Amino acid sequence: MELLAVLGCALLLPVVLGEDCPSPCSCWSLGEEWGARVDCSSRGLLSLPALPRLTRSLLLHNNSLPSIPAGALDSLGHLQELELWDNPWHCDCHILYLKLWLEDFSLPTLARLRCASPAHLRMKPLGQLTGNDLGVCIRLLPTKCLQFFWRDLVLIAGVVITFILVAWALKVAKKLVCQLILGCRRLRRNIPKTRKVQ
Ligand SMILES: *[C@@H]1O[C@H](CO)[C@@H](O)[C@H](O)[C@H]1NC(C)=O
Repeated sequence: MELLAVLGCALLLPVVLGEDCPSPCSCWSLGEEWGARVDCSSRGLLSLPALPRLTRSLLLHNNSLPSIPAGALDSLGHLQELELWDNPWHCDCHILYLKLWLEDFSLPTLARLRCASPAHLRMKPLGQLTGNDLGVCIRLLPTKCLQFFWRDLVLIAGVVITFILVAWALKVAKKLVCQLILGCRRLRRNIPKTRKVQ
């Protein structure tokens, strides 16, 4: 009975998950292992709020979301349910992230979404957007490539600088050792001489 009561509380009481629950939404804990149900539906949202990492069920329908920022859903590894319908999706290159993400996550969810703008794509299902509809989207790719390029450049520069420093340190060490050995030899040579003179 006690266990049932605890379970009932965990499932039925809206547990505010501390600072994790985005302010306009309601969050219910589904128990530690099950994650959270996050209800952000019908809140007039213009952008995606920061979501708890353990979100299992996410309701975002009936808002004013034009897009989902690239990468925003990638950290939600526990997500099993997602409602996105009734949002004014703006179908330009930025919608590609959501479209591709939903193609992996759930085709029925994708099938319920339609573009609201631009005018010539109004009411077109997101799942049926083609390369022709979106125009040239290559600008999204090079920025990412450029990021990798700069990261790699910094890494390579780091390795080269490390090599130069090590080579320099070895050279200095060698010089020092030489000086010490030579110094010792001179010292050894000098000691008998001074003794002979004495
Ligand atoms: C959609 O959200 C608005 C508030 O943003 C609300 O007034 C309306 O009732 C909601 N519609 C549905 C179908 O839930």
